[in-house]
Amino acid sequence: VKSRESLLDTEKALLEKLAMCPCIGYSNPKICYSSPQSPFWRLNGLSEEDVNSIMARTVCAKSAFELWGHGRTHIELRTSLLKYPTENMSPFLQKDSTYKINVYTFNKTLEFEDRIKKIDAMEYLSFEGRVNLRNPKHIFCLLEDYGTDPNDIPDEPLYIYFGRWIADGQRELIRSHSVKNRHFIGNTSMDAGLSFIMANHARVKAYDLVYDPFVGTGSLLVACSHFGAYVCGTDIDYNTIHGIGKASRKNQKWRGPDENIRANLRQYGSEKLYVDVLVSDASKPIWRDGVLFDAIITDPPYGIRESTRRTGSQKDSVNSVKPSEDYVGDSHVPVSMAYHLSDIFTDLLNFSAHHLVIGGRLVYWLPIYRPEYCEEMVPLNACLRLVSNCEQTLSSHTSRRLITMEKIKEPEVDALAHLSDPHFSPYQGHNAFREKYFSGISKRTLTGKEETNKMATNGGE
Ligand SMILES: C[S@@+](CC[C@H](N)C(=O)[O-])C[C@H]1O[C@@H](n2cnc3c(N)ncnc32)[C@H](O)[C@@H]1O
Repeated sequence: VKSRESLLDTEKALLEKLAMCPCIGYSNPKICYSSPQSPFWRLNGLSEEDVNSIMARTVCAKSAFELWGHGRTHIELRTSLLKYPTENMSPFLQKDSTYKINVYTFNKTLEFEDRIKKIDAMEYLSFEGRVNLRNPKHIFCLLEDYGTDPNDIPDEPLYIYFGRWIADGQRELIRSHSVKNRHFIGNTSMDAGLSFIMANHARVKAYDLVYDPFVGTGSLLVACSHFGAYVCGTDIDYNTIHGIGKASRKNQKWRGPDENIRANLRQYGSEKLYVDVLVSDASKPIWRDGVLFDAIITDPPYGIRESTRRTGSQKDSVNSVKPSEDYVGDSHVPVSMAYHLSDIFTDLLNFSAHHLVIGGRLVYWLPIYRPEYCEEMVPLNACLRLVSNCEQTLSSHTSRRLITMEKIKEPEVDALAHLSDPHFSPYQGHNAFREKYFSGISKRTLTGKEETNKMATNGGE
């Protein structure tokens, strides 16, 4: 059963991708569902061990069951259940075992008496064990799907399932790690659910070394350290890295002492996995050759809340950057320069190609102006294989795509040569994302400020 609240439009694709993680040890589960909107999916081809591995990581799925029968009516369910092989059922129905049956309804709340009636009606299954509501050995569940429209709830369920409960997912992490209760936050702190999804896409595991080059308040590091990875990051903003300056919380003017990323990890008991964070410009990475990360997971700036900036250099002074009018020196090195979105992503992919281990993953958000988007726009790099590309809609005309890439080979000596190939930098069209983001907003009901806030509630600019 997937969660009621959809984190991403393509949540299904996400779970599918998670299920295909080689680290989980199986491939190609088949997903079926009675309707595309249904919260219930049937997955074939997974062992119980596989299911337990998925549920130990996913924040998208609520619970998993071994399906014993299903149908559009209770009569169809009964026929289906009676066809389920006895040898598969009997180990869980033994005399010496204990059990309970839960009734789970989607889009309808049933009275207690109605639930009991439904449980009693299941007596055609030969439960021989004793009922134990507190600590049963086996839990069974009758799941009823009443559709998704709260204004049109049918009297009878549209579809019914019965099965043995196997495991719950990690939805609780979304509450326990909510940024609302996080020690150190900023305007662009990434939502807990999305941070865990990113860590899952990156297949982060214990003892990995994970790096975020646009670390901000470190939300992605928090999620990765939850899975036991050592974490580090860099950001161009001195105040963010040092946890000083203006607070982002209402009713608080300045950040308090110890409001920093290390304290965030301490809050969740993973301070020992904190490596460090540094002030650094992602356009001029500070890492020596050969530093290898197991995963690079990041949310680059989109230029919505502020323009994307990088530090200037001697080279930029040669490249016709005009000094301010009152400048009187011979040579001028600009303090900061616009950092074009296409350059941010080219640099990020190139950096990942050099600094990821083979098989290591890069997971990042790519802002998209929907009317112009086509798949060919997703930046490519010869050393990185595109694993998945999922959309989270932000407004009618903008979205961001969660891009997952895996390093398949080491860069060749002339690694930058491919950058001259337009195929590898077709993202140019999105450089004016900020203008496009705000364009058309006046035509709709939301104000620009409201839309920006919508993006901020999910994290990111
Ligand atoms: C979308 S925010 C990341 C938010 C972060 N995931 C969090 O949870 O707080 C983007 C970050 O990139 C940083 N940034 C912008 N330009 C940069 C650059 N050239 N190099 C490194 N960091 C940069 C910003 O200071 C900002 O903190």
